[in-house]
Amino acid sequence: MADTDGIQDTHDYHLDIAQTAETFPLKGCQSLDWGMKNRLSHIFDPKTGRTVMLAVDHGYFMGPTSGLERIDVNINPLLPYANTLMCTRGVLRSLIPPTFNKGVVLRASGGPSILKELSDERIAVDMEDALRLNVAAVAVQVFIGGPFETQSVHNMTQLVDQGNRYGMPVLGVTAVGKELARDAKYMRLATRICAELGATYVKTYFVEKGFETVAAACPVPIVIAGGKKLPEKEALTMAYQAVQQGAAGVDMGRNIFQSTAPTAMIQAVRKVVHENMKPNEAYEYYQSLAG
Ligand code: R5P
Repeated sequence: MADTDGIQDTHDYHLDIAQTAETFPLKGCQSLDWGMKNRLSHIFDPKTGRTVMLAVDHGYFMGPTSGLERIDVNINPLLPYANTLMCTRGVLRSLIPPTFNKGVVLRASGGPSILKELSDERIAVDMEDALRLNVAAVAVQVFIGGPFETQSVHNMTQLVDQGNRYGMPVLGVTAVGKELARDAKYMRLATRICAELGATYVKTYFVEKGFETVAAACPVPIVIAGGKKLPEKEALTMAYQAVQQGAAGVDMGRNIFQSTAPTAMIQAVRKVVHENMKPNEAYEYYQSLAG
């Protein structure tokens, strides 16, 4: 029997204070449910509405990529500086300390290796396992214009249906193939299709000309992949241009973990993304940390 002796009359209703109605900081996400928004808040910093996702999922089709040979040695020291880690469930279970308490974006599609046709992917993770791993989102590759376009779009829509059932955001990852143009027109097409078909947010590539139209035409947040390794100053410039033109952050892999000073690089990327630091200054900051 609960002790009810000490129950006091309620009286402090703060009648002079209206209940706050906070707006959620991510575009196109106002109508999402609480659980979905809470998970997104483990990816995007609620103060800036932006994210530095550290992408280390390359092994799911490339095997032991340069810089990712030993994730425990090379990547775990970078975790304190990332908003979110993007990886496979194999790496998560075997190498990432469960004390890592920021968001994890789980690679949820796969199948072919670099030895085969890459666009022939299937869903590679059950939603129940994603929930068991307590991840903040699942990521699925979408190959617009590729030979298995419909299959890859169907992978995404299946995950969106399951994600909506359980409050799990889905990151639609627009893939670029050798045969596909990497320009604003293509990126507008691919990102918009992902958003229209239910992706909670979308990853794409930065394009020099017209990226602001890609971001504007996509009704949900966009993050950019880093792509192949560039000199550090160029990678910082790309990140700066992307966020200034409407991206909600970066999902960056090789330009961080293949840098000569990865810890310095991820901290410089953070400055660009969260503090709008200009590329020259961010590069100086990188150099000062890199020694
Ligand atoms: C492809 O392997 C993955 O989707 C990567 O997470 C993505 O390409 C970002 O990594 P990077 O910055 O190295 O392109």
